[in-house]
Amino acid sequence: MNDVAIARAIHVICVVIWIGGVAMVTTVILPMVRRFDVPEKRLALLEAVERRFVWQARIATLLVAASGFYMVERLQLWDRFHSAQFWWMHAMVLIWLIFTVILFAAEPLVMRRRARPGPPIAAEVKLSRMQRLHWVLLILSVITVLAAVAGSQGMSLLP
Ligand code: HEM
Repeated sequence: MNDVAIARAIHVICVVIWIGGVAMVTTVILPMVRRFDVPEKRLALLEAVERRFVWQARIATLLVAASGFYMVERLQLWDRFHSAQFWWMHAMVLIWLIFTVILFAAEPLVMRRRARPGPPIAAEVKLSRMQRLHWVLLILSVITVLAAVAGSQGMSLLP
């Protein structure tokens, strides 16, 4: 196995761990938490899950970027960022940027604010907003994965 194949394997494994985790939180954990029969404990339950997952996701995002830019440099793919045909390259970097801001900047802020007690109705609104945001990010990530797999095989999803 050469260095590019190793970088590609690291890239894909980390994408699977990270986006798989987002899918699990979106489709299983969040709906389960929203139906938990002690409303005051719902946010605390979600925080407990997040605390365990956030470090996995942070490490995965760092390795995705390191392996991704390694491939860009090693295969001299920088020109792709000047062409709309390779929109999926821009999409990968954009998704990575959005998650990086959420995981490294927004998440610690939100956690600190959530630690303050509030009425259960406010918690419900927060959970519903979080679920919507998770769905949007999951759908964008799945589209990006589809386009990246097709694109790296030489197919373009644009006419
Ligand atoms: C800094 C961010 C990223 C960079 C620089 C980057 C770069 C790359 C490069 C250079 C390739 C190989 C393209 C080729 O062989 O033609 C690739 C493949 C791929 N990337 Fe990324 N990527 C990044 C983030 C992401 C993210 C966030 C996802 C998922 C949402 C993702 C999913 C994939 C997939 C599925 C492949 C195809 C692997 C294959 O089929 O061999 N990447 N990426």
